[in-house]
Amino acid sequence: MKAVAVIPGQSHSVHLRDVPEPQLADQPHPHVCQVPEGRAVKIKMLQVGVDATDREINEALYGNAPPSQQHLVIGHECFGQVVELGSKVSEFKVGDYVSCTVRRPGKSLFDTIGRNDITSDEVYYERGINLCNGYLTEFVVEDAEYVVRVPVNLKHLGVLSEPASVCAKAIEQAYLAQQRLQVWRPRLAYVMGAGQIGLLATMMLRLKGLEVYTLATRPGPHLKQEITEAYGATYVSTRQTQVEELLARTGRPDIIFEATGNASVCFDSMKYLGLNGALIWTSITGGKHDVSFDGAKINLEWVLGNKLLVSSVNGNRSHFELGLQALSHGEMTYPGVTERILTHPIAGLAGYAEMMKLLEDKEALKVFINI
Ligand code: BGC
Ligand code: ZN
Repeated sequence: MKAVAVIPGQSHSVHLRDVPEPQLADQPHPHVCQVPEGRAVKIKMLQVGVDATDREINEALYGNAPPSQQHLVIGHECFGQVVELGSKVSEFKVGDYVSCTVRRPGKSLFDTIGRNDITSDEVYYERGINLCNGYLTEFVVEDAEYVVRVPVNLKHLGVLSEPASVCAKAIEQAYLAQQRLQVWRPRLAYVMGAGQIGLLATMMLRLKGLEVYTLATRPGPHLKQEITEAYGATYVSTRQTQVEELLARTGRPDIIFEATGNASVCFDSMKYLGLNGALIWTSITGGKHDVSFDGAKINLEWVLGNKLLVSSVNGNRSHFELGLQALSHGEMTYPGVTERILTHPIAGLAGYAEMMKLLEDKEALKVFINI
């Protein structure tokens, strides 16, 4: 069968290659974990999405091949259909729509309690990213433990399961951490960035009843603004309106969800947050980017204001379930809006070069391959 792979460490090495089709009895990642007897699921990949992580892997800034292999099959945002089941899998049936989590457990205490998303091991194992092959291929075999059912009426959004899990987890983490305050009723949120993560976060915060301002650079009208407004939020172009101007109008936000991929915005957000507020960082900023700010002022305001910084990455199956619940709730509340994020479908794995090229396009909200 075909797979899209890179040679980690070798820049722009993305290519299509032949790989053996996995069998139900195979161990997909024997160097990290074993599928227990009878618990394997074979999945036909239907759609796989790509994001900035895939671009950075192809630029050789990130990612490693599984041991004893030169190439890494990329792709970590999957949506597929079950084709075969081990004898001890009762939670799925053939034909079910599913997605799979990304990270596999290491050895830390967190991994042993099912929280590999917050592993304290320095080395982490992620399908399509680090040390485990990914999903940009025709079939995969996986432990049922890491397979999550996608409701049949949500199959048009199934490829957003992984990004939705990342957003749902980040917001959940902030709410959990804010229990430190005993009572917290956030009213106002700023979302920095209107890419797929920014837009999904906009939806999830609106579903929680917050007033949401989604900030990005380019003035509308355009699709990002339309989607933001369809979720009942306000789109703000920072080229047209200074953040300070917006703050004067709205007051300081209780939540800032940062998803721009720009290190300056991550730190600038510290200046805007309200008292007792939570700043959520989700950007993975590769490379090097110096920023400068008045550290004494930030420190003073943060200490006197009891402010909180929550960083969040990845998601385990409970976060996938949370993300899928939010996507369902979003469809009920804002029907037909979320699918507008799926801007750039590509026909077949052979379109991998076009896929990588589209990842450079800032207006491409979601690039994905129909396999
Ligand atoms: C993925 C996460 C992953 C992170 C770090 C992101 O692109 O969506 O699942 O944990 O990269 O590798
Ligand atoms: Zn990702």
